Amino acid sequence: MYHLGLEEDLVQVVDERKQVDACVIDFEKAFDMVPHGTLMRKVEALILDKRVVEWIGDFLRRLIPVQFSDEPYLEKGTFLLYVQADEPETSYCIPGNVQHQKDYSRINGLPEGDEPLYNPALIKRLNFTQISSLFSPPISAANPGHSLLVRPLCRGDYDRGFLQLLSQLTHVGHISREQFLGRFSSMKACPDTYYVTVVEDTQTNKVIAAASLITELKFIHDCGLRGRLEDVVVNGDYRGKQLGKLIVMTVTLLAKELGCYKMSLDCKDKLIPFYNSLGYIDEPGNANSMTIRFDSSSIFKNPGITAKL
Ligand SMILES: CC(C)(COP(=O)(O)OP(=O)(O)OC[C@H]1O[C@@H](n2cnc3c(N)ncnc32)[C@H](O)[C@@H]1OP(=O)(O)O)[C@@H](O)C(=O)NCCC(=O)NCCS
Repeated sequence: MYHLGLEEDLVQVVDERKQVDACVIDFEKAFDMVPHGTLMRKVEALILDKRVVEWIGDFLRRLIPVQFSDEPYLEKGTFLLYVQADEPETSYCIPGNVQHQKDYSRINGLPEGDEPLYNPALIKRLNFTQISSLFSPPISAANPGHSLLVRPLCRGDYDRGFLQLLSQLTHVGHISREQFLGRFSSMKACPDTYYVTVVEDTQTNKVIAAASLITELKFIHDCGLRGRLEDVVVNGDYRGKQLGKLIVMTVTLLAKELGCYKMSLDCKDKLIPFYNSLGYIDEPGNANSMTIRFDSSSIFKNPGITAKL
C-alpha cells in the first residue's frame, strides 16, 4: 500500500514543522469474516466524522470499488484517516483509492467540501450513447454543456436555490436550513432509496434543474426494485435547452443501472408528449393515476367520504 501523494503531503507537513497523525485502517479481511453491523458499530465508535462512517457503510453495502481515477492509490477496503492537529478543519479521511478530499470533490464535480446525497460516481457511469438520438446538439450527464454540472443533491444546495427551484413546480412552504438539512439526513439514512439529482450552473452557483428517482423494494417481481420519477423541474430561464430531457433521462438511466424493473411517473396531461418523447408510455387499461388527498380539517378531502377528525 504505497501512496506517493500521501508521502509528499507528510514530508511537506514535517518540513513546515507541523504535527500530523495518520492512521490506516484495513477492513479488507473484515468484509467477509464479521457481520457488517458489528463492524459498523466499531467504525462508528472509532471515527468522529459522520460522513466517513456513512461512506464506509455505503461501501460495505455495495462492495463496489469506487474508481475515482485511473490509478488506485490505496487498496480496496482501506481507509486512511488523516488528521492535521493544528488545522482540524483540513483533516480528512481518504476512503479507498481517493487521493484526498479536494480530489474527491474535483473529480466528482462536487462543490468543494460539500456532501452528496448519493454516490456521484453513479452518474458518471451512465451510458448516454444508447439514447444519443434524443439530444441535438448532443449532451449527456457527464457533458451537459458549458458551465453546467449534473450531480446528486448536496447539503449546500439550500444556499444554491434548490427550494426556490422546486417552488416553480409546486407549493414548497417556508423551509428553514435546519429542516432542509434534517430532511437531507433522513433521506441519506435510507440507503439506496433517494436519488435527488440536480443540474447546477457553476457560473452562478445556482441549482437550475432537478429530478428525483425514488426506488421501492418489492416482494413481487422476484423481490424486484421499482423506480418512481418525482419532482421534475427546470428553472424558467433555462427551459427549451434540453435540460428537462437531460435530467429526466439521467434519473431514468440511473433507475436502469440500479436494476429497477420499471420506472413510473404522474404528470399533467399537457406533459404527456414530453414524457412520450423520452420513452414513457400510457399502458392501456393500466394507466390510471388516482389520488386521495388529506387535509387538516377532515381525514379525507374527497367527496364520498365524510369522516371528520
Ligand atoms: C417540463 C419541463 C421540465 C421541461 O423542461 P425543458 O428544459 O423546457 O424541456 P426540454 O428543453 O428538454 O424540452 C424537451 C421537449 O419537450 C417539449 N416540452 C417542454 N416543455 C413542455 C411542456 N410544458 N409541454 C409540452 N411539451 C413540452 C419541448 O418542446 C421539447 O420538444 P422538442 O424536443 O420536440 O423540441 C419544464 O417545462 C418545467 O420545469 N416545467 C414546470 C414544472 C413541471 O411541470 N414539471 C413536470 C412535472 S411532471
